[in-house]
Amino acid sequence: MLTNLQQQPADALLALIKLHNADPRPSKIDLGVGVYRTGQGDTPVFSAIKAAEKILLETQESKAYLGPEGDMGFVEALKPYIFGQHSAPVAAGRIDGMQAPGGTGALRLAFAMAKRAGIQRFWMGTPSWPNHAQIFADLGCELKTFAHNTAEGVADMPALRAAIAAAEPGDAILLHGCCHNPTGIDYTPAEWDEIAQLIPARGLLPILDLAYQGLGQGWEEDAYGVRQVLNAVPEALIAYSCDKNFGLYRDRVGAVYVMMAEATQLPAAMSNGHALARASWSQPPDHGAAAVRVVLEDVGLTRRWLDELDCMRARMRQIREELGRSGKVGGVDLTAIAEQNGLFSIIPFTPEQVQAMRDRHGIYFAGSGRINIAGLTLGNIDTFLAAVKDVTG
Ligand code: LMR
Repeated sequence: MLTNLQQQPADALLALIKLHNADPRPSKIDLGVGVYRTGQGDTPVFSAIKAAEKILLETQESKAYLGPEGDMGFVEALKPYIFGQHSAPVAAGRIDGMQAPGGTGALRLAFAMAKRAGIQRFWMGTPSWPNHAQIFADLGCELKTFAHNTAEGVADMPALRAAIAAAEPGDAILLHGCCHNPTGIDYTPAEWDEIAQLIPARGLLPILDLAYQGLGQGWEEDAYGVRQVLNAVPEALIAYSCDKNFGLYRDRVGAVYVMMAEATQLPAAMSNGHALARASWSQPPDHGAAAVRVVLEDVGLTRRWLDELDCMRARMRQIREELGRSGKVGGVDLTAIAEQNGLFSIIPFTPEQVQAMRDRHGIYFAGSGRINIAGLTLGNIDTFLAAVKDVTG
């Protein structure tokens, strides 16, 4: 019977890790999967997290089960950082959350809750993170797409407006809160203001994916869109990831938050999240979330973590500016990269050019032309630019 299982292709993004590792060339460059790298090319554990882990080692007295909601101290401690110190929905008790295994676990839970609530259609701008569509497909959700961005490298607001107008009341729309993956093209504050009005006017449920807070324009700036939407709608789902902004990738640290029109409606909604988690992974992994909680409960560690995040953001901004200053390189124009946010940008390589970058130059990135900005350093950027010129010129 199990021979009915057909061979599946390896996940194209995760496969890049192995392809890069297998390349013996010392000059190779990994611009594939989205992990932050220092100017030396490393992905170190944050020093604030290391300190929190030491505290956990000394003080954690039990590893007994916590329940399907995970570490609620972690879920609560994040709230002011995500929703703001003076969030009206939080003050009204309209937002509750639960821990999830990474941003992917949070998204899966959010989509499954929306489906359970009877939502038939989900709208999403494309290109998007490939796993979004994979999760929708795996859950059997109907997905409708619209263009996220124009060829000029800005958000395609006409396409978004048209999609919202074409959606039926009771549909859901997935939006990236910041650091759009894969394009790096975010909505401007004025565009978010408009989106926050359009969504409730059409009766749509927003699902907000916030996986890179702090890695775009700044901690508060990156939450602007999410907060504007939440202030304008009765209900929302928020999928959150700490994998990038606390550097906890393999520890799988995420959370899903639910906002209801009335605080009294939250227990029923959350009980569905708990039941779905129980039937999927039962309970989320504890360690990474516990370390985040320890950081956020300590003023000094919080300061240290935010400083580390500032350095990461500044380094990526510097690389973006370097690329933007290069302007036209071979057949592609890199100018717009300076204006984009977060770990990713897309360079319009053809599939043959992507392959040539790998074969001729040992430079690995997604087939879509998405590059991980953090994989570039002041030490390898010239090699990268020369390769771009070679394959596109
Ligand atoms: C990425 O897009 O590279 C990251 O979100 C990692 C992943 O799981 O795909």
